[in-house]
Amino acid sequence: MPKFTLNGKEIAFEPGETVMQAAWREGIEIPHYCWHPGLSVAANCRMCLVQVESGRQMAMPQLVFDEGKGEYVPATKPKLQPACQLAAADGMVVSSTNEQVKRAHAAVQEFLLLNHPVDCPICDQAGECKLQDYYYEHQGTLKRKLTEPVHKPKGVRFGPTIIYDAERCIMCTRCIRFCDEVAKDHVLDMRERGNKNEIVLAPGRKLDHEYTLMTEHVCPVGALTSRDFRFKARVWFLKSGQSICTGCATGCNTHVDYDPRYGKVYRLRPRDNADVNQFWMCDDGMMTYTRQHTNRLLTPTAGRGDERTPVGEDEALDLAADKLRSVDVSKLAVVLSAQHSTEDNLALGKLAAALGADRLYLAALGDWEGDEILRSDDQNPNRAGATRAVSGAGLKSVEDLLADVQSGAVEGVLALGWATAEKLEELRPLTALDAVVSLSSHVAALPAVACVAIPVADTFEVGGSFVNEKGIAQAFESVLPLPAGVEPAWKTIAALARKLGKDLGFEDLRGLRQGLLDAAEAAQ
Ligand code: SF4
Ligand code: SF4
Ligand code: FES
Repeated sequence: MPKFTLNGKEIAFEPGETVMQAAWREGIEIPHYCWHPGLSVAANCRMCLVQVESGRQMAMPQLVFDEGKGEYVPATKPKLQPACQLAAADGMVVSSTNEQVKRAHAAVQEFLLLNHPVDCPICDQAGECKLQDYYYEHQGTLKRKLTEPVHKPKGVRFGPTIIYDAERCIMCTRCIRFCDEVAKDHVLDMRERGNKNEIVLAPGRKLDHEYTLMTEHVCPVGALTSRDFRFKARVWFLKSGQSICTGCATGCNTHVDYDPRYGKVYRLRPRDNADVNQFWMCDDGMMTYTRQHTNRLLTPTAGRGDERTPVGEDEALDLAADKLRSVDVSKLAVVLSAQHSTEDNLALGKLAAALGADRLYLAALGDWEGDEILRSDDQNPNRAGATRAVSGAGLKSVEDLLADVQSGAVEGVLALGWATAEKLEELRPLTALDAVVSLSSHVAALPAVACVAIPVADTFEVGGSFVNEKGIAQAFESVLPLPAGVEPAWKTIAALARKLGKDLGFEDLRGLRQGLLDAAEAAQ
């Protein structure tokens, strides 16, 4: 593999790669604003200037103040080149830290801040802003311009999700390139020149495609802010966990930003994964975090309609076990969930097997509108994992379940998850049964028709894994603490099994996962 030297360190590169790309892959940061690993090269911010110290040197004329003569005299300086556009070459020697380069970085930084409002105390980007970071790293001096900055439009509503502040904008064009190249929608462009530059909408348009929040994400400064997140939290109070989006079967990798003081999630951000989502997420996926805090089922209940009453956790398990015992196992339906982890579904599959119940169904949301970019038509994160958990054992749909209830083939139901029919009325036939037990993280159609509803953990509160539509199994970690009295579904299922006199053969998540591995090996 060819190599070049950057700041004395040898870096191997693939032919065709730029100095910036190869350095980024090695974890070496060359300061940059306009470059983004997932977008084309614009080379307009000049923050990534480096000096190629090998080969023929190009010189630029300049005037330097001569203290002795008391006047400016002609001199030369090396011509620096943008690392984001500079093709790496075998044997090349590059510096991103020598004196010439440092002066250039400081000058570019000062230039970018000349007309910037520096309103960091009220800016949502503060704490994760490249202008702030690079000011400390590469400038650290007061700006010399003392005149009033150029004023431009502020608080411009680009669409339902994004607000634009032209005074904070450094014209890196990342937002334009994202819309053009990833979202395939030329809805943003730039107008005017020099310090009159601003980003504008295409005539008659709004920024309203399916990936608008990504424009805020790629903006390196506070010029684009998300209407959902702005003014809600300071990023230095937030901690981050790693999860998988529950919005569809693509399984985009996410950072979950939450405030540990309140146990509250404030936003999702994409986590790079070249095989799944590259650097991106869709708007619907980024907003799935709001489910965490809405319509949660937090108290076990028994009874239906007006007779529904809260019960203790242990009592709920006893009642659920009694209900399930009252049903002939050949008429017991066990409903897995395409929203729950493979581990939760595996535990439920084990309970079904231990009871001898072979009527297995899968609760899943209906299709939504996918696209060629990221979004899968299947808006369930783990249809494949749930199917894999029971080795594909002929899972039937909820429509089949309703038909089986109406035909009398099913007289009792044990169901995991909240996501099934959009409307409660569709599940009405289940209210005719005396034994419907729901394990759900949310108040929804399934727990609403159950005679015993037991809360279980939501995705952010429990570790587990999903299998996406490409068959890639992806683990996610527990980010938030469990609500009081609520356990992961796999644990609740094991407790219910004990009430029914069955031992499912695992004590913890590791033991459960081992079962999954064993099943996979046995299937090979
Ligand atoms: S709005 Fe942000 S991403 Fe767009 S050009 Fe300005 S600084 Fe760059
Ligand atoms: S494409 Fe699917 S998995 Fe990715 S962010 Fe959107 S909803 Fe989530
Ligand atoms: S990152 Fe290279 S010019 Fe902007």
